[in-house]
Amino acid sequence: MALTEKDLQEIPETGIDPENPGKYQEFLEDLQGNILKGHGRDYSVHLFLKWIPEQVEPAKQWIKSFAQTYVTSARQQADEALKYREQNICGSVFANCLFTRKGYQALGFEPFQIPKDQPFRMGMKNAQIRESLGDPEVTEWEQYFREEIHALILIADDNPDTLSKTVEEIKAQLCEVAVIIHQQDGFILRNNKRQVIEHFGFVDGVSQPLFLKRDIVNAQTKDCNFSLWDPRAPLDIIVVKDPNGKKTDSYGSYLVYRKLEQNVKGFREDKKQLANTLGINNDLAGALVVGRFPDGTPVTKSKVPTSTLTNNFNYQDDFPATKCPFHAHIRKTNPRGDTGRVESSPGFDEALAMEKNHRIARRAMSYGENDPNQTPETGSGLLFLCFQANIENQFNFIQARWSNPDRFVQVGVGSDPLISKPKINQKWPKQWGEAETEDYGFKLWVSMKGGEYFFAPSLSFLTCL
Ligand code: HEM
Repeated sequence: MALTEKDLQEIPETGIDPENPGKYQEFLEDLQGNILKGHGRDYSVHLFLKWIPEQVEPAKQWIKSFAQTYVTSARQQADEALKYREQNICGSVFANCLFTRKGYQALGFEPFQIPKDQPFRMGMKNAQIRESLGDPEVTEWEQYFREEIHALILIADDNPDTLSKTVEEIKAQLCEVAVIIHQQDGFILRNNKRQVIEHFGFVDGVSQPLFLKRDIVNAQTKDCNFSLWDPRAPLDIIVVKDPNGKKTDSYGSYLVYRKLEQNVKGFREDKKQLANTLGINNDLAGALVVGRFPDGTPVTKSKVPTSTLTNNFNYQDDFPATKCPFHAHIRKTNPRGDTGRVESSPGFDEALAMEKNHRIARRAMSYGENDPNQTPETGSGLLFLCFQANIENQFNFIQARWSNPDRFVQVGVGSDPLISKPKINQKWPKQWGEAETEDYGFKLWVSMKGGEYFFAPSLSFLTCL
């Protein structure tokens, strides 16, 4: 029986259970992996492709056979994870296959067959999109991102040798049907506790919307029954019907891909300067920028790091933002109800429900320098990837309507110091929990090097091309 609109809008009490999928069986078998849950592999290769015009039929044949051999379904991903937990048997090489709007067109699809999301159809190079996101001119992007991109092949594994062998095999097949515009290597950066971090040194990937039973039960046990923040999410924020799917429950998801270079040296020096200006320590200064300490402790809960990787918090007891500033990266990108406390808001519960519809499933990896003790200025950063059902209402909304503007919950808050160009100085609490603030303009140490919008179609579409 087909999934109903209600099935997509409602969160099953304990999430979807791939071991007992019930009505979600076909859905999980036809949906690509990495959407409902990150693939979890340590190394990844992204191949950006352009189909060769005279080779459209062979390209379709190649996609079909690649999908049959490599592309991992949500079901397969869950089965392999179970096998690993129970028998310590590693999963196979993981793969995703995604297309741009131009990629669909180049394969001969008619407009009505192409996924409808508007930013997806416009492409990230579009001037209107760039302006709303605050992105640099396309001429400043890395060369390959300036080209017309048709497809993204993501291949991932825990063993770098297996991965590079597989990638070489795939590239050898591909050269008949596509130009490989660029190969981007990515990896999971870890601290000395083996936690996943990004280049500035902060634990990353902590707060995510959760869809699957195991993730929900794990988080619930750890985070006191979601009393302050409930991370469960309905399917309609992450998937849409695949217009070309061959099954009753064929779904896909939109991927936002952005290469974000991080100037680690610049960030660390600016953080020190901020600490000196406020007369606080470096760790607290960093926490005021990000909203969490490097070890993940939310700064709204503590003025010192306590190794608490909790996600069960909101800003209810910190509405004057004297502990976690409004501009802090995680407060701007997930206000946890803040927008319901302003005068014009429809009320706390309604505002919170609306905010929750803007959530994205982040699936980032790092690139460049892989020694976390180094402080590169160029050549390293985050391959920011996120899945969603509606790009305008999710990624674009977060970046353009929350992170970039100076007005956020209140006037004169300033932009998100991690990902937005500053126009005014932000206001920083001089002492944690005290109302007195000091102005300081934290510079932007992240540069956007290019990117694109993709769609991850269903397996039944890919294998029936
Ligand atoms: C959370 C770093 C870019 C959206 C975080 C966290 C860190 C971080 C350290 C806290 C850990 C966690 O909750 O997972 C970075 C860095 C970036 C970057 C270094 C660029 C190089 C972005 C972009 C967006 C974004 C471009 C979207 C526009 C989010 C969201 C959260 C988050 C939604 C979770 C907030 C929450 O639920 O509390 N990021 N991020 N990030 N980031 Fe970013």
